[in-house]
Amino acid sequence: MSTATRPLALVIGAGGGIGRAVADHLRSNCNDCDVRGFTRESEPPIDLTLETSIEEAARSVSNGAAEICLIFVATGFLHDDAFVPERSLGQLNREHMLKSFEINAIGPALVMKHFLPLLPRSGRSVFAVLSARVGSIEDNRLGGWYSYRASKAALNQLVRTSAIELKRTKPEAICVAVHPGTTDTPLSAPFVKSGLDAQSPGPVAERLVALLGRLSKSDSGSFLDYSGATIPW
Ligand SMILES: NC(=O)c1ccc[n+]([C@@H]2O[C@H](COP(=O)([O-])OP(=O)(O)OC[C@H]3O[C@@H](n4cnc5c(N)ncnc54)[C@H](OP(=O)(O)O)[C@@H]3O)[C@@H](O)[C@H]2O)c1
Repeated sequence: MSTATRPLALVIGAGGGIGRAVADHLRSNCNDCDVRGFTRESEPPIDLTLETSIEEAARSVSNGAAEICLIFVATGFLHDDAFVPERSLGQLNREHMLKSFEINAIGPALVMKHFLPLLPRSGRSVFAVLSARVGSIEDNRLGGWYSYRASKAALNQLVRTSAIELKRTKPEAICVAVHPGTTDTPLSAPFVKSGLDAQSPGPVAERLVALLGRLSKSDSGSFLDYSGATIPW
């Protein structure tokens, strides 16, 4: 197969712990596709808070001849220097909530707006975005983490709704939200106990890519964990 016609796998958030590992794994193991990573520093960059950057990145992909086989969104926000996940209602902070929704829900929705049209009209393709099990409303037994939980629940609804729309024009395309499992990255670092209950990103990437390879069109619109098990909404 000539380089010009090889399918293209895109990783958005390719500088993060899981995103970088997924991009590396695809580059090392996918002989049939090329891999392109987007970060806030890539050329062109993707900053989820700037729709124009998402639109321009999508245009840069659509200008090429390659067919898109995979779009993997690995961005996300849980904490920063100013915010830690809330333990109680009294800790709710408007700026923290806005940032959580902007990065975890609105940004990925705008990625779907501009990138789902790039998927081929026929033939299998996959759009997967990293969500989190704590975004499950039914599975919420511990409480807390209001902004993160609610923004991931919103993301799940956006994925489900997009999958329904996508099916009308691209019946073989698959659109899913995936929980990667606890992974040793900057996002989880303050919350894992001595690294004992977190997987390193390499094996996580391997099992995520294997999962994406097993998905069929009937999985579209699902919320799945890394093993492929359905997580309740
Ligand atoms: N790690 C876990 O245990 C775990 C568990 C469940 C779910 N997840 C989910 O998995 C995903 C990846 O998490 P991770 O553990 O790999 O975290 P990470 O290492 O902190 O990576 C997060 C990525 O999001 C990017 N990002 C943040 N704000 C952005 C913005 N405005 N525009 C573009 N990119 C932005 C970061 O870019 P910069 O590098 O430029 O900051 C970084 O690449 C997240 O959605 C997270 O919720 C992780």
